[in-house]
Amino acid sequence: MKFFIDTADLAQIKEANDLGILDGVTTNPSLMAKVGIKGEAAVMNHYKTICEIVDGDISAEVVSTDFKEIIEEGKKLHAIHPNIIVKVPMIKDGVKAIKWFTDNGIKTNCTLVFSAGQAILAAKAGAAYVSPFIGRIDDSGWDGVQLIEQIANIYAIQGFETEILAASIRSALHIIQCAEAGADVVTSPLEPILGLLKHPLTDIGLAKFLADAKSFK
Ligand code: E4P
Repeated sequence: MKFFIDTADLAQIKEANDLGILDGVTTNPSLMAKVGIKGEAAVMNHYKTICEIVDGDISAEVVSTDFKEIIEEGKKLHAIHPNIIVKVPMIKDGVKAIKWFTDNGIKTNCTLVFSAGQAILAAKAGAAYVSPFIGRIDDSGWDGVQLIEQIANIYAIQGFETEILAASIRSALHIIQCAEAGADVVTSPLEPILGLLKHPLTDIGLAKFLADAKSFK
């Protein structure tokens, strides 16, 4: 399973990258706004900086909803760096645009996916990644991890090559559950990734080993 970090915060991206386990980055307009990036030039420049930090797939999201405008915006994003994946929303013009990008050799990430039907459409259009938002599904009283499992089953039965990118991760447990459910990628904020490190028995065990090792010196 690949690990992406879900943030536009450069310090957090660097910290995760330094761990040596990072395969890519996802962002969205809200994450860009959260770190104070405003205006098209600043957004483009920020994506370029992220591409220079991480050698992996970097999702850059379009903010257009009309087919022609999505294509123009996606082409500009794609021109920033060869690792840019154009992130396109699961709407009718978005599906058409994903098909166009696929036919023209541009990889896409289909975002805002909340159902198996939407995931089938994304795969049929040739998206490189499909992003089910599991945290937001849980927030609404449904089961996000169950959706990952359902999409993984469908894609395996049908032989779809689209990778399942579990998004909207809220906890370390979500990451583990997505790995079990068959996600190809998990994109997570830094906190849940670091949460995977934690176990009190590791801390207790290490303290004892270090105390006993004092007698060696
Ligand atoms: C990533 O691609 C998504 O945009 C992101 O994971 C959404 O997360 P949120 O539900 O925490 O905003």
